[in-house]
Formats: sequence, C-alpha cells, structure tokens
Amino acid sequence: MTETVTDFDVGAVRAQFPILQRELDGNPLIYLDNAATTQKPQAVIDALVDYYTQCNSNVHRGAHQLSDEATKRFENARKTVANFINAAAVEEVIWTSGTTEGINIIAKGMAQRLKAGDEVLVTQMEHHANLVTWQQACKASGAQLKVVPIDEQGNLSIEAFDQLLSDRTRLLAMPHVSNALGTVNPIVSLTAKAKAKGALVLIDGAQGVAHGDVDVQAIGADFYVFSGHKLFGPTGIGVLWGRKAVLEDWPIWLTGGEMIATVTYEDATWGALPNRLEAGTPNIAGAIGMAAAIDWFQALDINAVKAHEQALLEHALELAKDIPGMRIVGNADNKIGILSFVIEGIHPADIGFLLDRQGIAIRTGDHCAQPLMQRLGVPGTARASFTIYNTLQDVDALFKGLKKAAMMLA
Ligand code: ALA
Repeated sequence: MTETVTDFDVGAVRAQFPILQRELDGNPLIYLDNAATTQKPQAVIDALVDYYTQCNSNVHRGAHQLSDEATKRFENARKTVANFINAAAVEEVIWTSGTTEGINIIAKGMAQRLKAGDEVLVTQMEHHANLVTWQQACKASGAQLKVVPIDEQGNLSIEAFDQLLSDRTRLLAMPHVSNALGTVNPIVSLTAKAKAKGALVLIDGAQGVAHGDVDVQAIGADFYVFSGHKLFGPTGIGVLWGRKAVLEDWPIWLTGGEMIATVTYEDATWGALPNRLEAGTPNIAGAIGMAAAIDWFQALDINAVKAHEQALLEHALELAKDIPGMRIVGNADNKIGILSFVIEGIHPADIGFLLDRQGIAIRTGDHCAQPLMQRLGVPGTARASFTIYNTLQDVDALFKGLKKAAMMLA
C-alpha cells in the first residue's frame, strides 16, 4: 500500500526503499545514478508481488475472474497515468516498453509522412534515442535533420531555434530535460512556436517526468514519451502519450492480437485507440507497477521534492569548488539535479571505478550522447544524478570519495 508522506521528509522517503539499506563491500550504498534508473519503493515491489500472487492472467481475453481482475488493474493503471500527466482522454495513453520504443513508434508513422524537402528539428543535447531515430528517418525519406545548437553552459540557443524552425519543419523532437547535462528546456514556448509553423512536436520526457509536474495539455505538444523505470517503477514499461486526434490516424506499427477490429484471410481492419497501437500481450505487471510508482510519487509534495533536489544540486556545486581541476559540464540557467563533471588528469572511468570501491554508484561515459560530448570537447563525463531519497550526506560522501580518488591517482 502507498504510504503517504505529507511533508517532505527524506528519512521517511528513504525508509521505503529496501535497496538503500544495502552495503557494498562494507560500505553503505550511496546511489547517485538516478538518471539511468531509479530505485523502487516497497509499494511498487508489493504491487508486482500482489499481481503475480493474486491475479496473474492475460488481459482483455479470458472468460474468467482472474482475467477480469487483471484487466481492471491494467486499465486502472492506464487511468492513473492519464491523470498523472493530465491527458484529455485515457485512450491517449499507449503502453510501450519505454521511451525508446515510444520514439520509434512515432518514427514509424513519420516515415510515411516525411519526404525530400521536409525538415526534422532536434537539439545538440539529444540522447541517441531521439537523435539516431530521426537521423535514420531523414536518411530514408530524404528529409533534412536540423540540429539546434547549445551554448557552452548547455543552454539551448533560442535564437538559433527561431532561425532553424521553418515552414518546412515537419517535426520538432526534443528533450524536456537533458540526461547528460540536466538542462531543463523551455518546452512550452518552443512547442508553441513549432505548432504555429504546423509541425508536430515530440517531447522526450525520460528525464523530465520524475522531476516535475508534467501536464501534457499545458505543454501543448503532440507526443510526450517516458519510461516507468526512471519514475520509481519497473523496467520494460513506458508510455507514449499522444493527442487523440493525432494518434487516431497514426499508422499501426506492430500487427497481431488486440490491435485488430476484423480479420479475414485476405485482409484486416484496425481497432480503436489505445489497442490499435498495442499488439500482443502487454507488460501487465509493468503497467500495474508503474501505476503504483505514480501513486507513490504523487503522495509526495512535488514542490518540496523540487526544493530538495535543488538543495542537493546547490550543495554539490558548492563542494565542487574545493576539488582541484574539477569542471562541471552543463551549467544551464534552468537545470535539475544532474551533475556531470570532468577532473583534469583523471579519466571519468577511473573516477567511476574508484567511487564504486567506496560504495558510491555514478555513471561515467558518453551517456548515450556522443555528439553532445564532441560538441563540448570531452570524451565523456562522470555523472552523479540526484533524486528524492538522496541526502546532503550522500553529496558529502560523493565529494569525500572524489578527494580520496584524486589522492589515489595523484
Ligand atoms: N538514458 C539513461 C541515462 O542517461 C540510461 O543514464
């Protein structure tokens, strides 16, 4: 059951995550790789166990009580997501395996619309999922990929955006929040500009969804995609939200059971939303677990959550001043708790390894954003990413660990 945390209390939040009790080689786990995946609260683990122990069954198909119960839980999970992101209709929520699949479903449909002379607009801070997909779609169709530059701090250039957006832009595909830099993009105003040019707009919400109150109607885009596992839910489940008027016509991408209306040996017709875009047995447990994660997350005070994450980031930025040769990569005016950095003379992989020996989990490398690393002139970075269960002491431990690592490599 979801335990309500009325006033933000990091101790009460932490107590709900069993994995945070773990020790690694005698060191308490300090988990700072939340942009890669978040840990799961007991409420999510319980929801998965309860589903499998009480009503595991296929959905929409069985002539028996278990199937009926599973279908109700599964469809209620869809309602939970729809309410969470303020979708205008529940059938606008399409289950996917995650953000990447959501983007690829949109790309399959765009492939039928793009032609030579068209343009697709992305940014220099894309994750490969929202870059390579459009790069390939453009190559196949003869459309042109336009890339909006960023400045040295990791802010998107709005001036360049305005210049690159044109009547030829068919799609703007951009991240809500950069996974490598933490930059929060002004998606509402940029969406409005792109819509005014008649373009479709896709927001990659993988990193944005767990750090704020996403309201898809207020954003005004056509698609917003995200994953369950970065939102305290299970892996292998995600959501493609799309405006009903757009999704109703969207080309089918996977054929099979559930997505059809009628079938003969010669032909088939497609069902209505959401099923027409969800062929085959879905990830039922994943959807139920994701809804449990959302229920759990929504019991928190979102403003207190945001303030907590900002406090962690500010503390980290303060401590960073004491580390010789440390450079923060990504200092956008509006950013969330993602701290990408390099330390002169130390390879990011060595930083990751030496922190891991102290029980501190971070990510190192290109963060699935190789062109962004090239743009910023770094081979990769070390990245600590903070979330609601992290403490100021975790940040202290990170910097103590960095000092120790630097001494060992000196
Ligand atoms: N995209 C995830 C990350 O940034 C995996 O780590």
